[in-house]
Amino acid sequence: MKRAVRVRVNGRDHGHDVDVRATLADFLRDDLALTGTHVGCEHGVCGACTVLLDGEPVRACLILAVQADGHEIGTIEGVAPSGDTLHPIQEAFRAKHGLQCGYCTPGIIMSACAFLKEHPAPADGEIRAMLAGHLCRCTGYHFIVEAIAEAARALAAGPRPTLDPT
Ligand code: FES
Ligand code: FES
Repeated sequence: MKRAVRVRVNGRDHGHDVDVRATLADFLRDDLALTGTHVGCEHGVCGACTVLLDGEPVRACLILAVQADGHEIGTIEGVAPSGDTLHPIQEAFRAKHGLQCGYCTPGIIMSACAFLKEHPAPADGEIRAMLAGHLCRCTGYHFIVEAIAEAARALAAGPRPTLDPT
C-alpha cells in the first residue's frame, strides 16, 4: 500500500507516493537519491542514519517515511553551504582527522549540528556523551571529539553558514 508524502528536505519540497512500510532512511536514499544518509544496523543502535527532523536528530531507520509527512528534514547533503565550501563542522572533521572510512560521519555531523546549537562551547565530556549515540569502527573517537570541539570554536568565531540545515 502506498501513501502520498510531502516533505521539505534541505530546503526543497518533495512529494512522493511511498510504501507505508518504507523507512525514512530508505525513502531518502531510494526515492530522493540522498545516499549520504547511511544505513548500518537498521535498528536504532549505530547512529549512521541520523538526520534532522524539524531540527532534532532522529534515527531515520526507526521512522517511517509516512511519519515524516509535512515535516522538514535536514540531511548531510544540505550541510555544506556550496559545492566547493565545507560547513565549519565538516571542515573541522577534515582538519582534525575526525574520519577514516567515513561511514559513521554523516550521522555524527547531523547530530553535531543540533548539539552545537544547544552547546555552543561544549566540554569534552558533553561531546563524548553526545557521541554515545554513534558507533565508529575506525577512529577510536578521540579525533572526533577534537573535531567537534574545533567546530564549536569555529562557529563561535564566525557567522553560521547561510544554508545551515539546522
Ligand atoms: S542504521 Fe539507524 S541507527 Fe543504525
Ligand atoms: S570513520 Fe569509519 S566507522 Fe567511523
